Amino acid sequence: MGVLPGLSMEKPFSQACENNKEPILGVLRNTFANASRVVEIGSGTGQHAVFFARHMPWLVWQTTDLPQHHAGIRCWLEQGPDNALPPLALDVMSDDWPVASMEALFTANTLHIMSWEAVKGFFRGAGERMLAGGMMCVYGPFNYAGAFTSDSNASFDAWLRQRDPLGGIRDFEAVDLLASRAGFRLFADSAMPANNRLLCWQRR
Ligand SMILES: C[S@@+](CC[C@H](N)C(=O)[O-])C[C@H]1O[C@@H](n2cnc3c(N)ncnc32)[C@H](O)[C@@H]1O
Repeated sequence: MGVLPGLSMEKPFSQACENNKEPILGVLRNTFANASRVVEIGSGTGQHAVFFARHMPWLVWQTTDLPQHHAGIRCWLEQGPDNALPPLALDVMSDDWPVASMEALFTANTLHIMSWEAVKGFFRGAGERMLAGGMMCVYGPFNYAGAFTSDSNASFDAWLRQRDPLGGIRDFEAVDLLASRAGFRLFADSAMPANNRLLCWQRR
């Protein structure tokens, strides 16, 4: 998705975002009811940001991602609501996140793409910056008790590991342990379409 300044690019599109945005919103509009600013990690195309910001006008949605995704996110934000903000460069592996504190965090389909070291960085960084009482929601596929929850998730995991040996569907229990060590308490685990979950924690 990287383009040279001044050159136009094709607007990226994710069918999965179109399929999952309504069910995710159904949970987020309650969980983020009192939030005024949400930081999204790994905004990808920017589709979620535009949709969630439009449907939760009481908050500001801050997009972030690795720089190669910024041009695509900006394409989506051109027709987005004013409360969806241009992307900040945020790599969870870095200690230098461009946000000093957070009251709410959302991320979708990122933990199985990044390495386990990066997953650890994600929870460490979130825990260090999240204000007490702040909400964190993570969408994606997870394994439970060491098992895939569907054949399609097993195939997806094989595809992920072939693409990048450091990727792969994460164990819910291992992820929740990282969250707990970072100061978060799980308060909801909601079933989502296509064998995905939406995990929500609150910072103690
Ligand atoms: C499969 S895409 C998901 C994009 C979008 N959230 C969605 O649901 O369609 C994975 C995203 O994770 C981001 N990502 C991967 N490694 C990352 C890292 N170390 N720090 C921040 N984001 C990362 C990628 O740049 C990409 O945008």
